[in-house]
Amino acid sequence: MSEWTRLGSVADFGETITLVELGRSKIAVARMQDELFAFDGLCPHLAGPMHRAELDGTVVTCPLHGWRFDVRDGGRELHDYRPLRVFEIRIEGDEVHVKL
Ligand code: FES
Repeated sequence: MSEWTRLGSVADFGETITLVELGRSKIAVARMQDELFAFDGLCPHLAGPMHRAELDGTVVTCPLHGWRFDVRDGGRELHDYRPLRVFEIRIEGDEVHVKL
């Protein structure tokens, strides 16, 4: 069952990718212009640290082996297997929540 969990305040998320640890879950949050995107902090290939990924538009590149994913839907560029898990975000006032 999915549930909404608070990630932080809007101001907590800058232009780089921010890692938020929620219990045993690692959630990476990227800001692109005025939009926030949340995705798994661990790469689906070999658990590379996605908060250290390179960001280019809506595409993140894993720092370990260069797999590239679109954070809007988790799709891997060029191939369509093992997508990156992405999470729905909801902003209420200044609070950012993620649906896990
Ligand atoms: S761990 Fe991310 S591409 Fe290998």
